[in-house]
Amino acid sequence: MAGRRPATDVLVLGSGVAGLTAAIHAARRGLTPIVLTKAELDTSATAWAQGGVAAALEEDVDSPDLHLADTVTAGAHLCDIDAVRVLVTEGPDRIRDLIAFGARFDHLGADLATTREGGHSVPRVIHAGGDATGAEIQRALAETARDLGIEVRERWRVTDLLVEDGRAAGVAALDAAGAPRQVRARHTVVATGGAGQCFAVTTNPVVSTGDGIAMALRAGVAVADVEFMQFHPTALDSPSTPRVLLSEALRGEGAVLRDDDGFAFMHDEHPLADLAPRDVVARAITRRCVAQGKDHMWLDATAVPNFAERFPTIWRFVRAVGLDPTHDFLPVAPAAHYLSGGIVADLDGASNLPGLWSCGEAACSGVHGANRLASNSLLDGLVFGSRIVEAVAAGKDGPDATGVMRGVPAWAPGPVVAPEYGGPTRREEFQRVLTADAGVLRDRESLERAAAALAAMRAETLEDANLLAVGRALVAAALARCESRGTHTRLDFPERSSAFDGRFVFGHGTEPVLVPLPAEALA
Ligand code: SIN
Repeated sequence: MAGRRPATDVLVLGSGVAGLTAAIHAARRGLTPIVLTKAELDTSATAWAQGGVAAALEEDVDSPDLHLADTVTAGAHLCDIDAVRVLVTEGPDRIRDLIAFGARFDHLGADLATTREGGHSVPRVIHAGGDATGAEIQRALAETARDLGIEVRERWRVTDLLVEDGRAAGVAALDAAGAPRQVRARHTVVATGGAGQCFAVTTNPVVSTGDGIAMALRAGVAVADVEFMQFHPTALDSPSTPRVLLSEALRGEGAVLRDDDGFAFMHDEHPLADLAPRDVVARAITRRCVAQGKDHMWLDATAVPNFAERFPTIWRFVRAVGLDPTHDFLPVAPAAHYLSGGIVADLDGASNLPGLWSCGEAACSGVHGANRLASNSLLDGLVFGSRIVEAVAAGKDGPDATGVMRGVPAWAPGPVVAPEYGGPTRREEFQRVLTADAGVLRDRESLERAAAALAAMRAETLEDANLLAVGRALVAAALARCESRGTHTRLDFPERSSAFDGRFVFGHGTEPVLVPLPAEALA
């Protein structure tokens, strides 16, 4: 019988910006990484990112402190201040790394071109290919991974964590041919992205099924902040699934939201008007849709200079559906876009299960709070993907009481519960429930209806079982959070309440526990 292959140093689950950053840094540190991806190396939500990457690169007009202030304001004061400080201070160097790996960002003369997006007080969002930032980053990282000879196993689907003697020992997976396999590792990095596919109306690719978060929930690993699904305000309202994103950068370059009467309503909603934080804009659009009995509002991008050159990807999409953004207003409505919560991670990305780490959208690192600041997500993957490797290389094995990990009860993770699937429920059925009853505006009645409907469903496939698990957790946390904050708007509790200055954490069981924010974490 063939002997068992020795455990690899670093097993990375996911091939988006966070996962590839971790794998590349591991290889450059002399560690042996293996990347498992359920699609291809070049396929991830990262590749779909349009707007850009936010970082305080221009010292004359910007600073990490200003970036920090914008991040915690957008995050509705539920960010972890130390995690945000790490993000904004290390971010610029990680972007320089990316440029050294070959990523080509747009320039204005000799300088990197920057734009503004919602919630940013200065232009600090760099971009590539106009509106193809994610695709360029994915290209640069994938090429670097290939050049470094990193082993990438494509079309492998992870089924569960292996937990042995109280630590993560790798994963059980189905290989490209569907055969059950085990991949053993000293360190396992969950960088599997978000769960936008919980919703019928989403900007996320079909691969965004919350696999890593569901796996953590099944293993009793701490997961938090999952009630904070961020809805992007301006997805093109067309029958396509997923929805076409109309980047916030359009509003940074002069586009304006208008209601069905042509009124530019954002001036009545927030001092930053069309560049208010994303949750404010999504709520304002949804409320106006309800008030005017419409499915969408309008994005007037007729004043955006050189639309086709500056936003070539969006130009192609809207032209394909017969719209000309230089003349036509574009129909827009909010769509599920980004999960601000996930696997609880300390400042180095360590989960509460030794040997298990998490970064990017799958993680709850505390940098996004209740509402992620626009274009902070790619930066998050770059910064925490590399910090994990630095910590592993320094010999760290388990979590510290830093960042979001502060205050999380000392639960021992486990036992691992196997995913349940093979039932009759199709994805569209629970997507409909979550969209109708746990969307931009929620209340107790709608959430209880959603909880009951989801409890009765049994998913057909592994990925749908993962989505269902994340959807149930999202609804349970949303029911428990009896206030409105960030992307979580309860019509029955319209105000923010200091009684909920904390995170709902899942660890043991299906009910979340409110962990108060330690005083030193408050921004
Ligand atoms: C956008 O381009 O509007 C999306 C950027 C982001 O999600 O941060």
